[in-house]
Amino acid sequence: MKRIERGHPYHAERFNPLKKRRVIVKINVTHGNIGEQKTDAIILNLFEGVAEPGGATGAIDKALGGAIRDLIAGGDFTGKARTTAVLYPRGALPASRIILVGLGKPEGFNLDRARTASAVAAQKARSLGAKRAATIVHGAGVGGLSPEPPPLRSEGLRRAAQAVVEGALLGLYEFRELKSEEAEPPLDELALVEFDAGKIAQVEAGARAGQVIAESANFTRDLVNQPPNICTPEHMAAKAEQIAAAYGLAYKALDIGQMRELGMGALLAVTSASHNSPKFIVLEYRPQGSGDTPPVVLVGKGITFDSGGLSIKTAADMPEMKTDMAGGAAVLGTMRAVAELKLPRPVVGLVPATENVIGGSGFRPADVLRASNGKTIEITSTDAEGRLILADALVYAGRYKPAAVIDLATLTGACVVALGENMAAGMFGSDDGLMERIRRASEASGERVWPLPLYEEYRERINSDVADMKNSTGNRYAGIGVSAAFLKEFAEGYPWAHLDIAPTAYLNKANSPWPKGATGYGVRLLVEMLRGWE
Ligand code: BES
Ligand code: MN
Ligand code: ZN
Repeated sequence: MKRIERGHPYHAERFNPLKKRRVIVKINVTHGNIGEQKTDAIILNLFEGVAEPGGATGAIDKALGGAIRDLIAGGDFTGKARTTAVLYPRGALPASRIILVGLGKPEGFNLDRARTASAVAAQKARSLGAKRAATIVHGAGVGGLSPEPPPLRSEGLRRAAQAVVEGALLGLYEFRELKSEEAEPPLDELALVEFDAGKIAQVEAGARAGQVIAESANFTRDLVNQPPNICTPEHMAAKAEQIAAAYGLAYKALDIGQMRELGMGALLAVTSASHNSPKFIVLEYRPQGSGDTPPVVLVGKGITFDSGGLSIKTAADMPEMKTDMAGGAAVLGTMRAVAELKLPRPVVGLVPATENVIGGSGFRPADVLRASNGKTIEITSTDAEGRLILADALVYAGRYKPAAVIDLATLTGACVVALGENMAAGMFGSDDGLMERIRRASEASGERVWPLPLYEEYRERINSDVADMKNSTGNRYAGIGVSAAFLKEFAEGYPWAHLDIAPTAYLNKANSPWPKGATGYGVRLLVEMLRGWE
């Protein structure tokens, strides 16, 4: 059987997108008084319900002769979350303008609200045409920002600085690579101003981590937002190779011949109709001195387009399926951050990447395949393809004798139905300790997960008459539990957790301040978990 490679006249590489420079915001940490900054905008904050502002906002209010108190008293600014007000100091300060951002009510204030406030303020600064802005670290003066009891203040400040930088860089993100029209002029520089010299080191550590993590999440967002004729498996592999070269990771990508040698019958079935070559991407991070410490292996679903195959999706459901590689993109983004932050533990990233399209050589409902662990699978739906490619990847993960394996996948519409769009990722697993690590990282990173059950009885729903198992029940019940029960058949011999990120990978409409499109979900969560891993 001869495989047609690059047979299609509209091949991705012939489409030459406009190469636009990515907008980089320079982050500086400055020791001094925010009121003395000569810049296009200084960013201050206010809690809701406060009539007499304190801290930096209070000091500036005094310098302005009570202008901020007047604004509050007049009801023009309440400090409500996601709102802003702009004031002109008219010579009382060297800055051109002041942006006040609301933090919401003090009760329940957390890192996520500091992150959001920073995004709102950065967007406001950009829309006003500011090139340079300076901000205080929102939440720096409030205790309780550290998720670890007892809350260490320095830990809280580091985390607050991280959240402020993350918020600004995530909030300023735009996917404009394929647009001809110029964007709003970018904000070039954001300074974090800290008054207390003894705290500068904490702010710097947080700012640096925030920058690496946010830029890595934005890398993931770029991949997910990219259309499927550009973001092919080969494109993902090329991006992985670039990360490897830039940050010193080991890289390889198995081709279709190597997949055959390894007997990856489930992955091969999914790719069988595609004219774009599949790639099984492997990135390995082994810091010096980590010896033979077993790695944590991250596995990401890399379906660059999911048409459903012969079990075809509706025309309305299909376009969003360019995002079906979001798990894989999150794994690549996480590997980038892990290497740039030089974390002490070894981490491996695996991304099986292929399209799920339609063609005469494609797999069919009723086919039976054999995965690389020898188990046979009866296909009941070619649209339950994610679990098939993950099956072979989870088997491959076993060769690392890993400390743990975590997979991320836009796996089921049922998970979106269960939890709601953008609410939380569904979490399953075979190891309570691992799931507890993820849950804690979720609280600290603001990327939510919600545990879902993996009852033994789910497995019976995919008993097959002809093979070891079916790939779906064939009805619309128990969709999430069954998907996890299927994966568990291949995640043997190591602690394992599965995150169904179908609810969280992509925003179909903007959820202010976060723009419509890819969220980069998973990078912040996984990096947080790996940073805290002893
Ligand atoms: N990629 C989809 C799941 C999905 C749906 C992600 C909506 C994001 C938004 C997955 O491959 C799929 O098609 N799942 C099927 C499984 C079914 C056939 C058992 C689904 O959820 O309908
Ligand atoms: Mn599908
Ligand atoms: Zn899919």
